[in-house]
Amino acid sequence: MTAIEKPLPPGPRGLDAAKFLISSTRDFKKPMTEMAIQYGEVAHVRNRNRDFIVVSGHEAARHVLISNQDNYRKGLEYELLRIVLGEGLLTSEGETWRKQRRLVQPMFAKRYLKNFTEHMTRATAEVLDGEPFAGLPEGEVVDLSEVLMALTLDIVGRALFGADLSGETARKVGPAMNDVLGLGTKMTRRLSTFVMAQMPGMNLERAIAVNPEGRRFQRALVDLKSVIDEMLEERSRQSDKGDDLVGLMLSARDEETGATMSREQIGDELMTFMLAGHETTSNALAWTWRRLSLNPGARDRLFEEVDTVLGDRIPDMDDMDRLPWTRACVEEAMRVDSPVWTVGRQALEEDEILGYRIPKNASIMVLISMIHRDPRIWPNPEGYDPARFLPETSKGRPRHAYMPFGAGRRVCVGSTFATVEATLLAAMISRRLRFDLPRGAEVEQEAVITLRPKDGLPMHVFHRQHQPAPAEAPEPDLAAV
Ligand code: HEM
Repeated sequence: MTAIEKPLPPGPRGLDAAKFLISSTRDFKKPMTEMAIQYGEVAHVRNRNRDFIVVSGHEAARHVLISNQDNYRKGLEYELLRIVLGEGLLTSEGETWRKQRRLVQPMFAKRYLKNFTEHMTRATAEVLDGEPFAGLPEGEVVDLSEVLMALTLDIVGRALFGADLSGETARKVGPAMNDVLGLGTKMTRRLSTFVMAQMPGMNLERAIAVNPEGRRFQRALVDLKSVIDEMLEERSRQSDKGDDLVGLMLSARDEETGATMSREQIGDELMTFMLAGHETTSNALAWTWRRLSLNPGARDRLFEEVDTVLGDRIPDMDDMDRLPWTRACVEEAMRVDSPVWTVGRQALEEDEILGYRIPKNASIMVLISMIHRDPRIWPNPEGYDPARFLPETSKGRPRHAYMPFGAGRRVCVGSTFATVEATLLAAMISRRLRFDLPRGAEVEQEAVITLRPKDGLPMHVFHRQHQPAPAEAPEPDLAAV
C-alpha cells in the first residue's frame, strides 16, 4: 500500500472543525491540546485548502523532527519572525541555514561558555545588590517576570557585546534593538494567531505597512540596521576582535569554504540571539519559581543545596555538576511549563506517520507541551517533581520524550548556554531570596510562540538571611497545571 492510500489522521470534521478553527483565532494552544487529547498522537483538521496536523507524541515528533526531517521545512509562523529576524539561524532554510549553523555552533562550545558564564553571574550579582532587590522591604510584591526579562536580556547583550560595552556605538545598539524587539514582538503576537489559524498566503508585508504600529516597527528596523552597521564597521577596524559573540562572528571562517560572515548576516544573527536567547530563559525561570513557591518541599531542598554548595561564593561552570537538584528544578519546570510549547513545520511532500497520510504542504504543529505530559512516560504528568530529572531517575527514558529545546538538526543552538544560565541564576538568586506567590494569585499563561505569564508574575520577596523559614508557605500543589 502506498502512503497515498492511507487514511488521514482522525480529527474534528464539519461543525466541530469550524468550532475548532474559530476558537483557534483567540487562543491556539487550548483547542490544539483538546484535539490531541480527543484524537490521539496524530490528529488532523482542514481549513479551506489547508491541512493542519497536530503531533502530540514523541514517536510521531521524532519522525517529523529527526527521521524524516528532510521532508519538513519551518512552518508558516516563521514567515512572520523572518520579518523581524531576517535570515538568521532560527528563520533561514537550506544552504543559507547550513552554512550559518556551521559557523555559529562552535561559538557555543565550552571554552566560550566559560566566558559567557562570567557575564551571567556578574549581571545576576548586580541585580541582587541593586535594583529592585537591595533594601526592598520584607514581603514586598515584585513582578518577578519583569525582573527576569531585564536580567536575561542584559546577559545576552553582554554575551554579544561584552568586549565592547563601553563603546559609544555598542551603547546605541541596545536601545535600538529594544525598540525593534518590543514593537516586533507585539506585532508578531497580534498577527501570529491569524497566520497559524486562518490566512495562508496573506500578504504580511502589507498587513504590517497598513498598521501604524507596523510602520513604527519598520522605521525602528531601518534605524537599527544603521547603528548595527556603524558598530560592525568600528569593530572590524580593531585588530583584536574580542571573544564576545560579535567578535567571534567577525573572525569566523567557514572551515569548508573559508567564507566569512557578511555584515548583514551578522546583523540578522544579533537579532536572532537577542530574541531567541532571552525571553525563553526568562520564562523558564519564572515558571520554575512559580512551581517552587507552590512546592515548599522541593524549594527547601534547593535552599539546602545552594547553601551547602555555594556558601558566599559566586558559582561558575564547574558548579553545574554540584547543583543536581537546582538543575532538576529548572528541567522539571521546562517539562511541565515548556517555554517553547510548540514548533511548527510544513510538509514538502506527502508523507506517512504512524499509518496516517500527511498531505503535501500540510502545516504540522509538534506539541512539546503534550509530549511532556505523556502519562506512559511521566506518571502524574501534571505534578511538579524535580526528582524525575536526577541523574539516577532519568535513565531508560526515551530520549525524545523530553525536548524543551526541540530536536533534530534545528535543535536550539543555545541549549547549553540556557541550561547553565537558568541553573546558575536559580542557584544564586535562591541563595539570597525566597519568593512566595501571593495567596489566591492566579497566574494566567499566554501561549503564542513562547509560554509566558500573561500579566506578569507577582511574588512576595523575602531576604533569606532575615527569614530562614517560610512564614506562610502555601499548601503544596502537586496537581497544579
Ligand atoms: C530555556 C531557554 C530556551 C528554550 C526553551 C529554547 C528553545 C528552542 C527551540 C524549541 C528551538 C527549536 C525551534 C524549531 O525547531 O523550530 C530553538 C532554536 C534556537 N534557539 Fe533556543 N531556546 C532557549 C534559549 C536559547 C538561547 C539562550 C539562545 C542563544 C543565545 C537560543 C538560540 C536559538 C537559535 C539561534 C535557534 C535556531 C537554531 C537553528 O535552527 O539552527 N535559544 N530554541
